Amino acid sequence: MAKTILHMLTPLAHMSPFDVNMAADAGFDVVATYTNVSLAEVAGLTQDAMFSRAPRDATRTGLFIAGKDAFLALDMLDAAAKSLLKPFEISLFADPAGSFTTAAAMLAVVEKTYAARFGKTLAGARIAIFGATGVVGTAAGVIGALEGAEVTFVGHDGIARVTRLAQEVKRRFGVEIGVADGATAQARGVVLAVNEIALCAAKAGVRVLDAAQIDAASELKIAADVNAVPPLGVEGVELHANGEPLGRHGAVGIGALAIGNVKYRTESGLFKQMTESGKPLKLDFRHAFALARTLA
Ligand SMILES: NC(=O)c1ccc[n+]([C@@H]2O[C@H](COP(=O)([O-])OP(=O)(O)OC[C@H]3O[C@@H](n4cnc5c(N)ncnc54)[C@H](OP(=O)(O)O)[C@@H]3O)[C@@H](O)[C@H]2O)c1
Repeated sequence: MAKTILHMLTPLAHMSPFDVNMAADAGFDVVATYTNVSLAEVAGLTQDAMFSRAPRDATRTGLFIAGKDAFLALDMLDAAAKSLLKPFEISLFADPAGSFTTAAAMLAVVEKTYAARFGKTLAGARIAIFGATGVVGTAAGVIGALEGAEVTFVGHDGIARVTRLAQEVKRRFGVEIGVADGATAQARGVVLAVNEIALCAAKAGVRVLDAAQIDAASELKIAADVNAVPPLGVEGVELHANGEPLGRHGAVGIGALAIGNVKYRTESGLFKQMTESGKPLKLDFRHAFALARTLA
């Protein structure tokens, strides 16, 4: 049988070693990396990978899109998909900075906990996203909004950038996302007071919410954090927390390693789908969320 080959493209100077390891461990025989790739170069590289193999081996060829920009990765994914020609169609997967699989895992664990502890679904849930301008936060917001949640992007430097981000999300996905200022501890407290779920996707090593803010948040049901580097993003939510009590109003916490466990299996699972599928796949955060829900 022909070898499974994964071509890994990034617009950045380096391909993520994390993703290379994940792809190899998931079963790809050959992994090749391409750096500093522009959007305009994606179609040519895709066709170069595609035409060199017999049609029967097309699905044993994969293209992975990395980087640090969710929208650019989706544009690259679309450019690759548009350049495919029957019967040579190969499989495609975008997961920039691991963000799609991380956001998917975060929402899947939160969804499971929200149902089990509070009997509620994501539809209609009020979700505040801290670190919204990062790839993980943006993807988490889009997944939540597509599930019918009332999502708010919280800006750590005011509302200007998160407003532009919400407009771009509306243009691309047709969902409304609110915005709020989170530049000061007081402003973050105001946000927490009206939200049931706080998703913390801020930069590694940055504490966003402290214990006093959590204690004051009477509406809060779940605080989830993906930052695994001390100080953790939410005071009182430890790395392995998976529904542990939090604060004075019956909330629970979900920590970075509880989410990371599902993230790891989601990314690995999507790579495995690529190596095993008889049909060409085009995988993004939606497929990541669908798989993460089965793993959470
Ligand atoms: N647990 C897991 O499995 C897993 C997997 C992948 C990533 N992660 C973690 O997920 C988090 C988000 O990843 P990412 O790639 O999206 O990170 P990122 O690019 O570093 O950005 C995260 C967000 O944090 C914001 N930020 C920067 N400095 C801040 C500050 N002083 N106060 C508050 N917010 C600040 C950024 O704003 P700007 O736009 O201004 O930069 C951005 O909105 C990181 O902690 C990362 O380590 C976890």
